[in-house]
Amino acid sequence: MSDFAFNPFDLETRRDPYTQYARGRELRIHRHPGLPVWSIFRHGDVQDVLRDWRTFSNEFPPPADFPELEGRPRNMLGTDPPAHDRLRGLVNQAFTPKIMRRLEPRMVEVANELVDAALAMGSVDLVQALTYPLPVTIIAEIIGVPTEDSARFKDWSDKLVETLGSGLLAAPDRETFLRNEKILEELGDYFSSLVELRRREPREDLLTGLALAELEGSRLSFGELLQMLVLLLVAGNETTTTLIGNSVLTLLEHPAELARLRRDPELVPSAIEEVLRYASPVQFDPRRALADVELCDTRIAAGEMVLSWIGAANRDEAEFRDAERFDIARKDNRHLAFGFGTHYCLGSNLARLEAQIALRALLERTQSFELATREALPLHKSFVFRSFTSIPVKLVAA
Ligand code: HEM
Repeated sequence: MSDFAFNPFDLETRRDPYTQYARGRELRIHRHPGLPVWSIFRHGDVQDVLRDWRTFSNEFPPPADFPELEGRPRNMLGTDPPAHDRLRGLVNQAFTPKIMRRLEPRMVEVANELVDAALAMGSVDLVQALTYPLPVTIIAEIIGVPTEDSARFKDWSDKLVETLGSGLLAAPDRETFLRNEKILEELGDYFSSLVELRRREPREDLLTGLALAELEGSRLSFGELLQMLVLLLVAGNETTTTLIGNSVLTLLEHPAELARLRRDPELVPSAIEEVLRYASPVQFDPRRALADVELCDTRIAAGEMVLSWIGAANRDEAEFRDAERFDIARKDNRHLAFGFGTHYCLGSNLARLEAQIALRALLERTQSFELATREALPLHKSFVFRSFTSIPVKLVAA
């Protein structure tokens, strides 16, 4: 028995998990006491698990006391191949680098407007002013959701992600379940009328593409369509908001790197890659063993869970030289922030571009920015994310 007491719910650990991660990498694998759940921490081990979908599944059967979930369509994230590939194939084309480049001018326009509005105020919560509205506006436009509904989306999305992952290390509670069901119902009603509308009046948006696929019946059921839209909404917003926020915070914690970036803005893309590695928005990726299997010289039983700690793998000295150093010009940055293998993030091109554009807008339009509080910033409710829900800043115009 090791003395490693790794509790990822613990607030102290969540504020600074990196000492625990280093110990985790030394030990390689950890069993959470009393639970059929394991954690792994090394870059190579995380890749091995994420690549092996035949053994480590992303399909999680509904808990026995939630029979209502039985038979419900799954989204692509919660589906193994080949069903996964069919769902992903329907939307892949909407997120290619080429399509993203086409959207770039619009992203720049929105980011500049938001930064200018923030500058006019001087002191703002950067989450409200920039890191949240940019991704939500863009994904709403890609999907084809009316912009005026984005406040409702924020509300739905916030509530759904609050409890993300909470059932993994503790029993899921009925109250949360019922609340999430109600949100899904509201989303279902909302999207059915939009889908109807697109069938009658097709447009150049993702919703039209999906509505037509649904019409063909064999390609997409309405339940699957709804799951797809919820996934895009939730997966894309919180994470990109977090990436932009973590970029600002990490640069403020490393003033020499911030000064270097101001001198050499060409480094913005590699700076964003380094933030993805150093302050990964998604900290772990869960899988379920489908068979008894040997992992890190340890026997894992069929049905047990494996949490792959992306946040720990991204600080692995065996993969990254000076892994604890934040270096905006790092080369060969093979971080796992967007996952690895079959479920590699669909929105990585979009997220990267949005974060680069947001950071450029901030650097170009401000002379300086600084935190406007000495208090510890509030952590996101879900332990899946390394994210702060409010970032008060003072901005000075260039
Ligand atoms: C910085 C921002 C983002 C981060 C850190 C992130 C992270 C991730 C990670 C770690 C996975 C893999 C999950 C797994 O293996 O189980 C994933 C999958 C996914 N992400 Fe992202 N994501 C980001 C932005 C986005 C955006 C903007 C979208 C919107 C289109 C998106 C849509 C998805 C989807 C649909 C999947 C599932 C893909 C599949 O199952 O094949 N993500 N993301």
